[in-house]
Amino acid sequence: MTARIIDGKGIAAEIRKELAQKVADLTVQGKLPGLDVVLVGDNPASAVYVRNKEKACREIGINSTIHRLSEATTREELLGLIDRLNRDTTVHGILVQLPLPSHLDEDEVINAIDPEKDVDGFHPINAGKLQVGDADGFVPCTPAGVLELVKRQGAAIQGQQVVVVGRSNIVGKPAALLFLRENATVTICHSRTKDVAAECRRADILIAAVGRPQLIKKDWVKPGAVVIDVGINRVDGKLVGDVDYEEVRQVAGAITPVPGGVGPMTIAMLLKATVEAAARE
Ligand SMILES: NC(=O)c1ccc[n+]([C@@H]2O[C@H](COP(=O)([O-])OP(=O)(O)OC[C@H]3O[C@@H](n4cnc5c(N)ncnc54)[C@H](OP(=O)(O)O)[C@@H]3O)[C@@H](O)[C@H]2O)c1
Repeated sequence: MTARIIDGKGIAAEIRKELAQKVADLTVQGKLPGLDVVLVGDNPASAVYVRNKEKACREIGINSTIHRLSEATTREELLGLIDRLNRDTTVHGILVQLPLPSHLDEDEVINAIDPEKDVDGFHPINAGKLQVGDADGFVPCTPAGVLELVKRQGAAIQGQQVVVVGRSNIVGKPAALLFLRENATVTICHSRTKDVAAECRRADILIAAVGRPQLIKKDWVKPGAVVIDVGINRVDGKLVGDVDYEEVRQVAGAITPVPGGVGPMTIAMLLKATVEAAARE
Protein backbone atom coordinates (compact mmCIF):
# COMPACT_ATOMS: atom_id res chain seq x y z
CA MET A 1 0.00 0.00 0.00
CA THR A 2 1.18 3.54 -0.66
CA ALA A 3 -0.36 6.16 1.57
CA ARG A 4 -2.51 8.99 0.32
CA ILE A 5 -0.64 12.25 0.86
CA ILE A 6 -2.61 14.71 2.99
CA ASP A 7 -2.15 18.08 1.30
CA GLY A 8 -1.92 20.47 4.23
CA LYS A 9 -0.87 23.31 1.97
CA GLY A 10 -3.95 22.88 -0.23
CA ILE A 11 -6.33 22.45 2.72
CA ALA A 12 -4.87 25.55 4.42
CA ALA A 13 -5.38 27.53 1.18
CA GLU A 14 -9.03 26.38 1.10
CA ILE A 15 -9.50 27.54 4.71
CA ARG A 16 -7.89 30.92 3.99
CA LYS A 17 -10.29 31.37 1.06
CA GLU A 18 -13.29 30.64 3.32
CA LEU A 19 -11.92 33.04 5.92
CA ALA A 20 -11.36 35.84 3.37
CA GLN A 21 -15.10 35.77 2.67
CA LYS A 22 -15.89 35.94 6.42
CA VAL A 23 -13.47 38.84 6.87
CA ALA A 24 -15.18 40.69 4.00
CA ASP A 25 -18.60 40.11 5.65
CA LEU A 26 -17.34 41.27 9.07
CA THR A 27 -15.70 44.33 7.55
CA VAL A 28 -19.02 45.36 5.99
CA GLN A 29 -20.53 45.08 9.49
CA GLY A 30 -17.81 47.44 10.79
CA LYS A 31 -15.90 44.64 12.59
CA LEU A 32 -12.58 44.56 10.69
CA PRO A 33 -10.65 41.74 12.44
CA GLY A 34 -7.35 42.85 13.99
CA LEU A 35 -4.40 40.70 15.08
CA ASP A 36 -1.51 42.31 16.97
CA VAL A 37 1.73 40.36 17.18
CA VAL A 38 4.44 41.18 19.71
CA LEU A 39 8.01 40.24 18.83
CA VAL A 40 10.70 40.83 21.46
CA GLY A 41 14.37 40.59 20.53
CA ASP A 42 15.99 39.36 17.34
CA ASN A 43 15.57 35.60 17.18
CA PRO A 44 15.80 35.01 13.39
CA ALA A 45 13.33 32.09 13.34
CA SER A 46 10.77 34.16 15.29
CA ALA A 47 11.22 37.06 12.86
CA VAL A 48 10.38 34.72 9.94
CA TYR A 49 7.31 33.29 11.74
CA VAL A 50 6.03 36.78 12.51
CA ARG A 51 6.55 37.97 8.93
CA ASN A 52 4.63 34.94 7.64
CA LYS A 53 1.76 35.62 10.03
CA GLU A 54 1.59 39.27 8.95
CA LYS A 55 1.59 38.28 5.26
CA ALA A 56 -1.16 35.69 5.80
CA CYS A 57 -3.29 38.27 7.63
CA ARG A 58 -2.83 40.83 4.89
CA GLU A 59 -3.79 38.33 2.18
CA ILE A 60 -7.22 37.71 3.67
CA GLY A 61 -7.92 41.27 4.80
CA ILE A 62 -7.18 40.99 8.55
CA ASN A 63 -5.63 44.15 9.97
CA SER A 64 -2.27 43.11 11.44
CA THR A 65 0.16 45.19 13.48
CA ILE A 66 3.58 43.91 14.50
CA HIS A 67 5.11 45.40 17.65
CA ARG A 68 8.87 44.91 17.32
CA LEU A 69 10.51 45.45 20.72
CA SER A 70 14.21 45.40 21.51
CA GLU A 71 15.93 42.53 23.33
CA ALA A 72 16.34 44.91 26.32
CA THR A 73 12.57 45.43 26.75
CA THR A 74 11.66 45.39 30.44
CA ARG A 75 8.91 43.36 32.07
CA GLU A 76 7.00 46.60 32.78
CA GLU A 77 7.24 47.80 29.17
CA LEU A 78 5.99 44.49 27.80
CA LEU A 79 3.15 44.16 30.32
CA GLY A 80 2.24 47.80 29.64
CA LEU A 81 1.93 47.10 25.90
CA ILE A 82 -0.23 44.01 26.54
CA ASP A 83 -2.47 46.04 28.85
CA ARG A 84 -2.91 48.67 26.13
CA LEU A 85 -3.74 46.01 23.50
CA ASN A 86 -6.19 44.32 25.92
CA ARG A 87 -8.10 47.61 26.14
CA ASP A 88 -7.91 48.49 22.42
CA THR A 89 -11.26 47.55 20.84
CA THR A 90 -9.76 47.39 17.33
CA VAL A 91 -7.52 44.52 18.46
CA HIS A 92 -9.29 41.14 18.51
CA GLY A 93 -6.28 38.85 18.79
CA ILE A 94 -2.97 39.26 20.63
CA LEU A 95 -0.06 36.93 19.99
CA VAL A 96 3.26 37.14 21.82
CA GLN A 97 5.85 35.30 19.74
CA LEU A 98 7.77 32.77 21.87
CA PRO A 99 10.45 32.23 22.98
CA LEU A 100 10.96 35.48 24.91
CA PRO A 101 14.42 36.65 26.02
CA SER A 102 15.39 34.86 29.24
CA HIS A 103 14.87 37.87 31.56
CA LEU A 104 11.13 37.83 30.75
CA ASP A 105 8.77 35.31 32.36
CA GLU A 106 6.74 33.69 29.55
CA ASP A 107 3.99 32.44 31.88
CA GLU A 108 3.50 35.89 33.40
CA VAL A 109 3.29 37.46 29.94
CA ILE A 110 0.81 34.88 28.58
CA ASN A 111 -1.31 35.22 31.72
CA ALA A 112 -1.49 38.99 31.15
CA ILE A 113 -3.27 38.58 27.78
CA ASP A 114 -7.05 38.95 27.92
CA PRO A 115 -8.29 35.33 27.46
CA GLU A 116 -10.89 36.67 24.98
CA LYS A 117 -8.00 37.87 22.78
CA ASP A 118 -5.69 34.89 23.38
CA VAL A 119 -5.96 33.51 19.83
CA ASP A 120 -2.94 31.25 20.45
CA GLY A 121 -4.94 29.45 23.17
CA PHE A 122 -2.04 29.40 25.66
CA HIS A 123 -3.75 31.28 28.53
CA PRO A 124 -4.62 28.99 31.48
CA ILE A 125 -8.30 29.99 31.15
CA ASN A 126 -8.36 28.68 27.58
CA ALA A 127 -6.32 25.60 28.51
CA GLY A 128 -8.86 24.98 31.30
CA LYS A 129 -11.80 25.38 28.92
CA LEU A 130 -10.31 22.73 26.64
CA GLN A 131 -9.77 20.49 29.66
CA VAL A 132 -13.40 20.72 30.81
CA GLY A 133 -14.74 20.41 27.25
CA ASP A 134 -15.97 24.02 26.93
CA ALA A 135 -15.93 24.67 23.17
CA ASP A 136 -15.95 28.48 23.73
CA GLY A 137 -12.23 28.77 24.48
CA PHE A 138 -9.37 29.29 22.04
CA VAL A 139 -7.32 26.20 21.25
CA PRO A 140 -3.57 26.18 20.43
CA CYS A 141 -3.28 26.57 16.66
CA THR A 142 -1.10 23.56 15.79
CA PRO A 143 -3.29 20.88 17.42
CA ALA A 144 -6.37 22.69 16.09
CA GLY A 145 -4.79 22.35 12.64
CA VAL A 146 -4.12 18.65 13.20
CA LEU A 147 -7.79 18.01 14.04
CA GLU A 148 -8.98 20.07 11.07
CA LEU A 149 -6.68 18.13 8.70
CA VAL A 150 -8.00 14.79 9.94
CA LYS A 151 -11.61 15.98 9.67
CA ARG A 152 -11.22 17.50 6.21
CA GLN A 153 -9.68 14.40 4.72
CA GLY A 154 -12.67 12.44 5.89
CA ALA A 155 -11.21 10.03 8.48
CA ALA A 156 -13.59 8.75 11.17
CA ILE A 157 -12.57 9.90 14.66
CA GLN A 158 -15.31 8.70 17.02
CA GLY A 159 -14.36 5.44 18.72
CA GLN A 160 -10.98 5.29 16.95
CA GLN A 161 -7.68 4.65 18.69
CA VAL A 162 -5.67 7.88 18.60
CA VAL A 163 -2.07 7.79 19.82
CA VAL A 164 -0.29 11.09 20.42
CA VAL A 165 3.49 10.93 20.84
CA GLY A 166 4.52 14.00 22.87
CA ARG A 167 2.86 15.76 25.80
CA SER A 168 3.88 19.41 25.48
CA ASN A 169 1.38 22.06 26.52
CA ILE A 170 1.34 23.56 23.03
CA VAL A 171 0.96 20.42 20.92
CA GLY A 172 0.72 16.95 22.48
CA LYS A 173 -1.58 17.59 25.45
CA PRO A 174 -4.10 19.83 23.65
CA ALA A 175 -4.10 17.47 20.64
CA ALA A 176 -5.01 14.58 22.96
CA LEU A 177 -7.80 16.60 24.58
CA LEU A 178 -9.20 17.70 21.21
CA PHE A 179 -9.44 14.12 19.96
CA LEU A 180 -10.94 13.02 23.27
CA ARG A 181 -13.58 15.73 22.80
CA GLU A 182 -14.32 14.09 19.41
CA ASN A 183 -14.92 10.78 21.24
CA ALA A 184 -11.72 9.04 20.19
CA THR A 185 -9.93 6.67 22.59
CA VAL A 186 -6.70 8.51 23.26
CA THR A 187 -3.26 7.38 24.42
CA ILE A 188 -0.46 9.85 25.14
CA CYS A 189 3.15 8.67 24.89
CA HIS A 190 6.21 10.52 26.17
CA SER A 191 9.88 9.96 26.88
CA ARG A 192 9.18 7.61 29.80
CA THR A 193 6.62 5.44 27.97
CA LYS A 194 7.77 1.82 28.25
CA ASP A 195 7.21 0.71 24.65
CA VAL A 196 6.32 3.62 22.39
CA ALA A 197 6.44 1.49 19.23
CA ALA A 198 3.88 -0.98 20.64
CA GLU A 199 1.55 1.89 21.64
CA CYS A 200 1.89 3.44 18.17
CA ARG A 201 1.05 0.15 16.45
CA ARG A 202 -2.43 0.27 18.01
CA ALA A 203 -3.23 3.65 16.46
CA ASP A 204 -5.86 4.24 13.82
CA ILE A 205 -4.71 7.87 13.92
CA LEU A 206 -1.10 8.46 14.93
CA ILE A 207 0.05 11.98 15.82
CA ALA A 208 3.78 12.58 16.16
CA ALA A 209 4.82 15.70 18.10
CA VAL A 210 8.18 14.69 19.48
CA GLY A 211 10.93 16.81 17.96
CA ARG A 212 13.08 13.73 17.14
CA PRO A 213 13.89 13.46 13.42
CA GLN A 214 12.33 10.39 11.77
CA LEU A 215 11.78 8.57 15.07
CA ILE A 216 8.65 6.79 13.89
CA LYS A 217 9.43 3.86 11.62
CA LYS A 218 7.40 1.63 9.33
CA ASP A 219 7.04 -1.19 11.87
CA TRP A 220 5.55 1.26 14.43
CA VAL A 221 2.55 1.90 12.18
CA LYS A 222 -0.62 -0.17 11.75
CA PRO A 223 -1.34 -0.76 8.06
CA GLY A 224 -3.88 1.78 6.84
CA ALA A 225 -3.42 4.21 9.77
CA VAL A 226 -3.68 7.98 9.33
CA VAL A 227 -0.30 9.47 10.27
CA ILE A 228 -0.01 13.16 11.15
CA ASP A 229 3.53 14.43 11.52
CA VAL A 230 3.82 17.65 13.55
CA GLY A 231 7.60 17.51 13.83
CA ILE A 232 9.82 20.11 12.20
CA ASN A 233 13.48 19.19 12.43
CA ARG A 234 16.38 20.54 10.43
CA VAL A 235 18.79 17.79 9.38
CA ASP A 236 21.69 18.60 7.03
CA GLY A 237 19.94 21.80 6.00
CA LYS A 238 16.71 19.93 5.12
CA LEU A 239 13.39 19.90 6.99
CA VAL A 240 12.23 16.48 8.15
CA GLY A 241 9.44 15.39 10.44
CA ASP A 242 9.27 13.02 13.40
CA VAL A 243 8.11 10.27 11.05
CA ASP A 244 10.34 8.39 8.64
CA TYR A 245 8.20 9.52 5.71
CA GLU A 246 9.66 7.33 2.93
CA GLU A 247 9.29 4.17 5.05
CA VAL A 248 5.98 4.92 6.72
CA ARG A 249 4.15 5.94 3.54
CA GLN A 250 4.52 2.30 2.41
CA VAL A 251 2.18 1.11 5.19
CA ALA A 252 0.04 4.08 6.26
CA GLY A 253 -3.36 4.79 4.72
CA ALA A 254 -2.75 8.54 4.69
CA ILE A 255 0.19 10.69 5.76
CA THR A 256 1.16 14.36 6.03
CA PRO A 257 4.42 15.45 4.38
CA VAL A 258 6.98 17.74 6.04
CA PRO A 259 6.99 20.47 4.90
CA GLY A 260 3.50 21.04 3.48
CA GLY A 261 1.44 19.12 6.05
CA VAL A 262 0.69 20.47 9.51
CA GLY A 263 2.86 23.61 9.16
CA PRO A 264 0.55 25.61 6.84
CA MET A 265 -2.45 24.63 8.99
CA THR A 266 -1.02 26.37 12.07
CA ILE A 267 -1.23 29.84 10.51
CA ALA A 268 -4.63 29.06 8.95
CA MET A 269 -5.96 28.22 12.45
CA LEU A 270 -4.50 31.44 13.87
CA LEU A 271 -6.38 33.41 11.22
CA LYS A 272 -9.54 31.43 11.97
CA ALA A 273 -9.28 32.20 15.70
CA THR A 274 -8.79 35.91 14.98
CA VAL A 275 -11.84 36.00 12.71
CA GLU A 276 -13.86 34.20 15.41
CA ALA A 277 -12.70 36.68 18.05
CA ALA A 278 -13.85 39.58 15.85
CA ALA A 279 -17.17 37.87 15.09
CA ARG A 280 -17.86 37.42 18.83
CA GLU A 281 -17.45 41.15 19.52
N1 LIG B 1 4.04 22.30 12.49
C1 LIG B 1 4.01 23.28 13.39
O1 LIG B 1 3.43 24.33 13.16
C2 LIG B 1 4.65 23.04 14.72
C3 LIG B 1 4.27 23.78 15.84
C4 LIG B 1 4.84 23.48 17.09
C5 LIG B 1 5.80 22.48 17.16
N2 LIG B 1 6.20 21.83 16.03
C6 LIG B 1 7.21 20.75 16.07
O2 LIG B 1 6.62 19.64 16.74
C7 LIG B 1 7.61 18.93 17.48
C8 LIG B 1 7.19 18.86 18.94
O3 LIG B 1 7.09 20.16 19.46
P1 LIG B 1 6.83 20.45 21.01
O4 LIG B 1 6.90 21.91 21.20
O5 LIG B 1 5.60 19.71 21.41
O6 LIG B 1 8.13 19.75 21.63
P2 LIG B 1 8.58 19.54 23.15
O7 LIG B 1 7.99 20.57 24.02
O8 LIG B 1 10.05 19.35 23.09
O9 LIG B 1 7.90 18.13 23.53
C9 LIG B 1 8.35 16.93 22.98
C10 LIG B 1 7.59 15.78 23.60
O10 LIG B 1 8.07 14.57 23.03
C11 LIG B 1 8.38 13.65 24.08
N3 LIG B 1 9.50 12.80 23.66
C12 LIG B 1 10.78 13.18 23.45
N4 LIG B 1 11.51 12.11 23.06
C13 LIG B 1 10.67 11.07 23.02
C14 LIG B 1 10.83 9.70 22.67
N5 LIG B 1 12.00 9.20 22.27
N6 LIG B 1 9.74 8.89 22.73
C15 LIG B 1 8.55 9.40 23.12
N7 LIG B 1 8.33 10.68 23.45
C16 LIG B 1 9.39 11.50 23.40
C17 LIG B 1 8.73 14.48 25.29
O11 LIG B 1 8.49 13.71 26.45
P3 LIG B 1 8.69 14.28 27.96
O12 LIG B 1 7.50 15.16 28.21
O13 LIG B 1 8.72 13.07 28.78
O14 LIG B 1 9.98 15.05 27.92
C18 LIG B 1 7.77 15.67 25.12
O15 LIG B 1 6.53 15.41 25.72
C19 LIG B 1 8.92 19.70 17.23
O16 LIG B 1 9.59 19.10 16.13
C20 LIG B 1 8.45 21.09 16.85
O17 LIG B 1 9.38 21.77 16.01
C21 LIG B 1 5.62 22.08 14.83
